[in-house]
Amino acid sequence: MSKKISTSNYKPGLDIEFVKEKYHLKDVIKLASNENPCGPSEIAIKAFDKEIRSLNRYPDGKCTQLKKQLVKSLSRRFVKQDNIIVGNGSSEIIELIGKTFLSANDEILFSKHSFIVYKLVANFTGSKVIESKLITKHGKEFMSSDLDDMYKKITKKTKVIFIANPANPTGAIISNKKIDDFISKVSTKIIIVIDEAYIEYACERGHKSAINLVNKFKNIIVTRSFSKIYALAGTRIGYGIANKDLISKLNNKRQPFNVNMVAQAMARASLKDPKFLKRSLITYNSSRLYLYKQFDKLSLKYIDSYANFITIYFGKNVKRVFNELLKNGIILRPLENYGLQNYLRMTIGNSRECRKFVKILKNILRVSDA
Ligand SMILES: Cc1ncc(COP(=O)(O)O)c(C=O)c1O
Repeated sequence: MSKKISTSNYKPGLDIEFVKEKYHLKDVIKLASNENPCGPSEIAIKAFDKEIRSLNRYPDGKCTQLKKQLVKSLSRRFVKQDNIIVGNGSSEIIELIGKTFLSANDEILFSKHSFIVYKLVANFTGSKVIESKLITKHGKEFMSSDLDDMYKKITKKTKVIFIANPANPTGAIISNKKIDDFISKVSTKIIIVIDEAYIEYACERGHKSAINLVNKFKNIIVTRSFSKIYALAGTRIGYGIANKDLISKLNNKRQPFNVNMVAQAMARASLKDPKFLKRSLITYNSSRLYLYKQFDKLSLKYIDSYANFITIYFGKNVKRVFNELLKNGIILRPLENYGLQNYLRMTIGNSRECRKFVKILKNILRVSDA
């Protein structure tokens, strides 16, 4: 069983100002928190400027306008406003799922090396973490959840299952068909969360979202984030989609004004800016392919990623590489917290950031830049 963790030992990516001060640097590039280097969208920034004049007012606690916009943007016949809950980041939706469905002695099931917030939820609800295996055979599914093993780990006490797709910190993906088959086998009493914080990047690579499964299964919740492709991490906003009874149960546990009005306005505006989305995906694709090519040339091993980060294997050099990068103004994310001590996770930045990172990395690995 995994050890208990709490917010005090959740280790976020190092802060840019902290690194500047510590190493006396002018230019620091943060590639540690899976943020979008292109954003926020200009239309969202205009919405921000407009919204600050109304900050004497409370926000709309129901996020009505945003939900209307989401219904339009998601354009699925079965998704109505009462199928949506908006949260202070998708992390809040994950927390609400814990508050609503978990208590002491229940079991919460997810795969090894999963997003750490699932463990925080287990911790505050007193529920027991059960971890399933990853697929370790090299190939297309390397490091994705082994759903057969997950199925075997279900017991009478299992209340909630979390599947991040794509997963963080591996970036691995499970096909929609496999998820559908898995959910079909599981008792409808168990809540299954499909965490799609990075789904837009995966769709760009041909993957299908699980949103359509909400129409088929009453026990699933799909969570989405505005922190990644929509580049609004600092405003804290995300949402969940599910059957309306589940959404109503989650709503009973949230604060009345859980999402601030700047976040609501910026999220609404972002949904109306497809050009920004396109530009972000073009940047993502070209940087990802550039990095893969460079890593192949350097004979570095990495996990093929369907998200906006790449997890790279550095073996016994991992600490040295991390520290040297830091001294040169590049912040990556160590993964010992996730039980992946030989890997570092890097956000896929823009072209300038990636080229600078590769140049410094070559120096550290003592490879000539010819
Ligand atoms: C898999 C996964 N889910 C959810 C989140 C939470 O995102 P947010 O709370 O910013 O919407 C993250 C953030 O990094 C993540 O990696």
